[in-house]
Amino acid sequence: MPFPPFAYRDRTLFVEDTDLEAIARSTSTPVYVYSANAIRERYRRYDRAFGQTPHMVCFAVKANSNLSVLRLLAADGAGFDIVSGGELFRVLQAGGDPSRVVFSGVGKTREEVEYALETGIHSFNCESESELALIDSIASRLGVKARVAVRVNPHVDAQTHPYISTGLRDHKFGIDIAQADEVYARAAALPNLIPDAVSCHIGSQLLDTAPLVEAFEAVLALIARLRARGMGITTLDLGGGLGVPYKPEQREPDVTAHIGSLCARTSGLTLMTEPGRSIVGPAGALVTRVLYRKSTATKEFVVVDAAMNDLIRPALYQAHHEILPLRQSGAGTVIADVVGPVCETGDFFARDREMANVMPGDFVALATAGAYGFVLASNYNSRPRPAEVLVDGAGWRIVRRRESLVDLIRGEEA
Ligand code: LLP
Repeated sequence: MPFPPFAYRDRTLFVEDTDLEAIARSTSTPVYVYSANAIRERYRRYDRAFGQTPHMVCFAVKANSNLSVLRLLAADGAGFDIVSGGELFRVLQAGGDPSRVVFSGVGKTREEVEYALETGIHSFNCESESELALIDSIASRLGVKARVAVRVNPHVDAQTHPYISTGLRDHKFGIDIAQADEVYARAAALPNLIPDAVSCHIGSQLLDTAPLVEAFEAVLALIARLRARGMGITTLDLGGGLGVPYKPEQREPDVTAHIGSLCARTSGLTLMTEPGRSIVGPAGALVTRVLYRKSTATKEFVVVDAAMNDLIRPALYQAHHEILPLRQSGAGTVIADVVGPVCETGDFFARDREMANVMPGDFVALATAGAYGFVLASNYNSRPRPAEVLVDGAGWRIVRRRESLVDLIRGEEA
């Protein structure tokens, strides 16, 4: 079943007003296709949900860092959550405003901190005391003050896939909320830091908002304690994490209601949020062509021209992506494994999936691939990474050309 903005018109899969097969035939496959209007709408839904509450919606660049995607969000006034110097470079190249950039991540290097301070980013979300000390010393050398938050780990189980759950005591992320009071006291003593915010991110693909609310309450209690001790905390960064439906039976959390209820419980605080998947996930698909069909004694296989190097989520997180034929042919259904050309048993997009009975030459779309799709693609098996296309209404354009064979060896010596 397609999710908006993808929909069948007359048995043909469209995104916005564009026939996906026209794109696939023109660009060849595999190709990532994103809907500009869906991305805009999904960003605006967040922005509106805050109402009168001072806020900053910082798109998590790691979810989709294509320059054209970043540019359209920047044009709408979005901020950006980055986790590397490379992501900062992309944001700047796309026309993003550095004063709306927050730098997250557990292992920022000296060079990255310098680059970010020179660029004039909004703030850092810090994950250790040594990081706070490093930022203080670099800020001192550059003669600037650095706004920082401590990312606290609230011990809340996000109840999501273990690889994308981050809020438990055993996880490498953040600083134990039980130690946060002392860490803030020490941060306040560092002369070049302005510790005016608290941040928290407990995991990704949360379909139930209850763990987010629990974490929010723990952070509010910490902020109250810090303020009682005279610390000027002005900002709470909620992190990202709201999930999207990958299966027809899954329901997307109501962003407007969720953010609205958090706003209703804060006053005098600026709220920040770092959504990634919930802005771009449903806005994209990976279109691939069926190369072969084959059957064994026990299995039916559909071999497609995309592989785990193009979209690793099924192999890495046992993730489900709906598989939609671009033309509904009326040839019935089949129960099949959908696999790619890479030489690994883990190279599959679906196992024992009831799906359209597609034949070689047909195209299918792997749905909900706008987040953590292309960004996680690699050149494994020396496969050039796919093209990316941005659709805007009835028009579309290639926003990243398919890699060539020469791209594969760039920088190498024989
Ligand atoms: N903020 C921080 C500090 C994060 O670590 C993340 C995601 C986000 C925001 C954005 O979270 P979102 O709104 O997208 O849930 N590759 C995995 C997901 C990894 C998420 C990493 N951190 C996947 O494909 O499911």
